[in-house]
Amino acid sequence: MPYRENNVSRKMNSSRYDDAARGINAPMYAYYAEKIKEKTGMTKGVCLDVSSCGGYLGLVLAKITDLDFIFLDISSEMLEKAKLHITEDGLQKRARTLLADVHSIPLDDGSVNLVISRGSIPFWKDPATALKEVYRVLVPGGKAYVGGGKGTPEIRDQIAARMKEMGNEPDREKWGNGPRNIPKRDYDEIMKQTGIAKFIINKGDDGMWIQIWK
Ligand SMILES: C[S@@+](CC[C@H](N)C(=O)[O-])C[C@H]1O[C@@H](n2cnc3c(N)ncnc32)[C@H](O)[C@@H]1O
Repeated sequence: MPYRENNVSRKMNSSRYDDAARGINAPMYAYYAEKIKEKTGMTKGVCLDVSSCGGYLGLVLAKITDLDFIFLDISSEMLEKAKLHITEDGLQKRARTLLADVHSIPLDDGSVNLVISRGSIPFWKDPATALKEVYRVLVPGGKAYVGGGKGTPEIRDQIAARMKEMGNEPDREKWGNGPRNIPKRDYDEIMKQTGIAKFIINKGDDGMWIQIWK
């Protein structure tokens, strides 16, 4: 499949998103990194951050684990941001980028210990195919933690308060009910289509997350 940057990537204001992710939204990524560490117990081996954008989640997870990272995204522009942050965070020996489509991951079967992804599944054209790819690249005993959300209610309130202080009224539609134009999907049905046997779908006040075991 050719690497074509899709509409999502083009429409995203990459610099604004990047500034917010490393700035005002940083507590949200820190929260999910801690949660992923606690839920998966994975602290060594290779972690693939799928649809990583500028690498925000993986870069925080790198600070609290010894994992090595592959940041995969379909947008070369966002991967340039990831490269910059890898250098800023001194992670050149532990992290690399991979320009690719999640529907056809150019990695060997059983080559990754942990797959993570935040805020991206709704943008994948065919989530069942993408999740089968995620499963394929996992080693036996590997785990995946993929989903989306904007942290806990407390974190969302904290971010909204800081935005207000900065004179930016938070976009209620975006922060309250999820971004516009994102397809509502039946993830139970999607997981059934994948044929993956061991998984849990967690729906809580910190979003929807799918945990997979191989
Ligand atoms: C909303 S951003 C989320 C980024 C990041 N994971 C985060 O938590 O901030 C969605 C990302 O998915 C990427 N993406 C969309 N379709 C993709 C595909 N088919 N394969 C790989 N990445 C894709 C976009 O380029 C974008 O960086």
